Amino acid sequence: MTPEPWWKTATVYQIYPRSFADSDGDGIGDLAGITARLDHLAALGIDVLWLSPVYPSPQDDAGYDISDYRDIDPTFGTLADFDRLLEGVHARGMKLVMDLVVNHTSDEHPWFEASRSSRDGPKRDWYWWRARPNNWGSFFSGSAWEYDPRTEEHYLHLFSRKQPDLNWETPAVRAAVHELMRWWLDRGVDGFRMDVIDLISKDPALPDGERRAGALYGDGIPHTSCGPRIHEFMQEMHREVFAGRGGELLTVGEMPTVTLEHARLFTDPARAELDMVFQFDHVNLDHGATKWDPRPLRLRDLKAALGRWQEGLADVGWNSLYWGNHDQPRAVSRFADDGVHRVRAAKMLATVLHLHRGTPYVYQGEELGMTNAPWSGIDEFRDIESLNHYAEAVANGADPADVLAALRPRSRDNARTPMQWDASPSAGFTAGEPWLPVNPNHVEINAEAARADPDSVFHHYRRLIGLRHGEPVVAHGDFRMLLPDDEQVYAFTRRLGDVELLVLGNFSGEPALPRLPDARAWAGAEVLVGDPAPDGGLALAPWEGRAYRHGR
Ligand code: NOJ
Repeated sequence: MTPEPWWKTATVYQIYPRSFADSDGDGIGDLAGITARLDHLAALGIDVLWLSPVYPSPQDDAGYDISDYRDIDPTFGTLADFDRLLEGVHARGMKLVMDLVVNHTSDEHPWFEASRSSRDGPKRDWYWWRARPNNWGSFFSGSAWEYDPRTEEHYLHLFSRKQPDLNWETPAVRAAVHELMRWWLDRGVDGFRMDVIDLISKDPALPDGERRAGALYGDGIPHTSCGPRIHEFMQEMHREVFAGRGGELLTVGEMPTVTLEHARLFTDPARAELDMVFQFDHVNLDHGATKWDPRPLRLRDLKAALGRWQEGLADVGWNSLYWGNHDQPRAVSRFADDGVHRVRAAKMLATVLHLHRGTPYVYQGEELGMTNAPWSGIDEFRDIESLNHYAEAVANGADPADVLAALRPRSRDNARTPMQWDASPSAGFTAGEPWLPVNPNHVEINAEAARADPDSVFHHYRRLIGLRHGEPVVAHGDFRMLLPDDEQVYAFTRRLGDVELLVLGNFSGEPALPRLPDARAWAGAEVLVGDPAPDGGLALAPWEGRAYRHGR
């Protein structure tokens, strides 16, 4: 039998470098800052770090617009700083995964500069140029096309106009991407998180998209998501980049529009494409027509979404597990309670997620139970998605106060406020003026306080990460969802051989008594995670989580 891949027992930690730790006082996080904080991550037991982009970039989309794939942006440091970071990561037995952003480049990348310079230049077909654009809208508001007066054609940009989409139909584009990936692997990195990689194979006809009533633009997703050649492209990348490098790497595809059917293909080891993908079903449940139009999250929908992925990837493939990242609001504010029950709620979310089958991802600050920020006005926001939406909505007649109210809980900037290291004025993040306001609650919620308190969210994460290393049932056990229609309690079992876990999470501010058919069988079982109920039964306090174990 082939041994199980190492990443089944691993936990990944995402670092958003702008907001993690600033070593030089310019108010923006940097590589030397990360290197100085590696012991925090080693103490947590983290196996892999994923770095959001640190490459040279005009920073139109906070680094997801890359102008040079083989260097470090001066804001973050130098290649020598990067090598020191990598050495520090490896010295602590951890791995480092880079963000690979190759659906698009920056418009300031030399490839695009060459492409836009003439209609018949050698790099013209590296991007998508059309005399007449189709009707697609961009993910960042407005049209997905920009007119370029130099050659009197339009280019496609699914994101900002400074992020032109690469044309993966062109073999030289793919070869160039493979080459830069090998360059980083040769430098010692341990894999890639691949940005919106589900969008790289587009229907080359670029047909108009369906337009919803009242919508300004047509929907390009059906013509860009997991397009006709996507699996071919991933297999080719695997052959050209990963094959022959052993099983020590990690590849995860970010796929906002992936279906379970495609995910099974992407993550089937026999097909040699990717190790795992990020699916978005559970983080889209509280969106209405758009993310700015929220609707209440029903627990039964959350269970149905995550349960479907557990079941769908049970016999083939593998799940990535996450509540948050740099694009999502803070998990404890969004899915639970960031008020009086914050600590218990953050632990419950962690217990539930980390005991699913899959590889958990911790977003920086989640291990402290960091919360959304109390935005006072539009001038505090920095994210292009939020700012574009505000400008467009207000220009179309919306009341600015209403738009702001929608931004507050939803903006990606919630996840990007500086990491809270201590209670000092800039939270120990910088000696200068932070690029985004520090959340005032850092006086209470910070790493220094959390590490000193054995009952903190931090130590709870540390125990869960340790369990995944030491308890085979956590990584490898079967998953069975219980109480699918219960609106209060999230409940499931994991089983491997004679060992069975029962995991419970109270997703409400009221006490709960889980109505399990075999509740008696669990009375007296070992409490593996959390505190026993006062009467030894299954009762849960508001937002409490707990896991039991039977067998050994
Ligand atoms: C997904 C990234 O996570 C997000 O931050 C970015 O804006 C888009 N892809 C475009 O690169």
